[in-house]
Amino acid sequence: MADEGFRTIWLNPDDPSIVQIIDQRKLPHEYCIQDLTSWQDGLVAIDDMFVRGAPLIGATAAWSLYLAALHGNPAGAAVRVAAAKLLASRPTAVNLGWAVERILRIVDSTTDADLAQQIRADAQAICDEDVQICRAIGQHGLTLLEAISKRKGGGTINVLTHCNAGALATINWGTATAPIYLAQQQGLDVHVWVDETRPRNQGSQLTAWELARNGVPHTLIVDNAGGHLMQHGQVDIVITGTDRTTRAGDVANKIGTYLKALAAFDNGVPFYVALPSTTIDWATRDGVRDIPIEERDSTEVSHLTGIANDALTTVRTVMRTTPISNYAFDVTPARLVSGLITERGICEASEAGLASLFPEEANT
Ligand code: MRU
Repeated sequence: MADEGFRTIWLNPDDPSIVQIIDQRKLPHEYCIQDLTSWQDGLVAIDDMFVRGAPLIGATAAWSLYLAALHGNPAGAAVRVAAAKLLASRPTAVNLGWAVERILRIVDSTTDADLAQQIRADAQAICDEDVQICRAIGQHGLTLLEAISKRKGGGTINVLTHCNAGALATINWGTATAPIYLAQQQGLDVHVWVDETRPRNQGSQLTAWELARNGVPHTLIVDNAGGHLMQHGQVDIVITGTDRTTRAGDVANKIGTYLKALAAFDNGVPFYVALPSTTIDWATRDGVRDIPIEERDSTEVSHLTGIANDALTTVRTVMRTTPISNYAFDVTPARLVSGLITERGICEASEAGLASLFPEEANT
């Protein structure tokens, strides 16, 4: 990302008992920093989506457990109570469980007196590692964009993305956006089709915000426009993120991703998924059958929030009585995925592909 110092979560430099986040519910209209002073604040931030995106959810859980240890007495017991509550908050993103388990291993081996400082160090390490991982994903993904640019004689590379798998979903750089930011830094002519991503509009509100902030040319489209653009040669590559990737390469991501993969398959458009290895669920093979899909409140579908008279305003757009279903994610089977872009390189979306990059995990 152009802004290397950008962070989505950090410890207040003047008061290490306060964790700070960006309240993403208010973007792009207001840039608000929110203090988290207890693990319960962290739980609300995850539940109510002040923060979202698989890697950032994991990092927020880790920092929340630091706050639990800081204020808990005894610290270890407090961390275990908080861990159980955090684990139940958002079921699809696997990074949440990954981060909580990593912190619980510290609880197992540390005295109560040292616990808060040990967890603080590891929460910071989780964030620092994520920045490095996303940058590496960017380097590998960049090779795909360079090849498209070469094939088009330096013409515009049109990338379509869904949801926000950007800097705001991670600590910085993003996963799907990291190759885009690096391509822009290399002087490649890159343009992004941004799916609006109903119902919470992560595309129109978050991806568009961060691309604009970094000067990346982009165009907002409604979620149903992707197929039409692909039929007319307007999309060179689709890159999305994922909340959970099975060991066989099935990917769960924001609802609507599967339909983009189907349209890409039908039109011969490469469909890549960018992910940190922290998003791989090595215990699961069949994503359609076994990945838990979060269902969220019906008000996300029935209401819209925007700016009216300079104030954030929420309005209902449907009848009060209309029955509503709100699945937050869907699963794209590996056969529709052209490749997985990870921090260790690009591989086929298959058990063999992932095993070639992560043999130590695949053999467990
Ligand atoms: O419901 P959200 O906003 O947390 O969903 C986020 C996504 O679906 C992202 O694409 C995914 O977490 C990957 S983030 C690098």
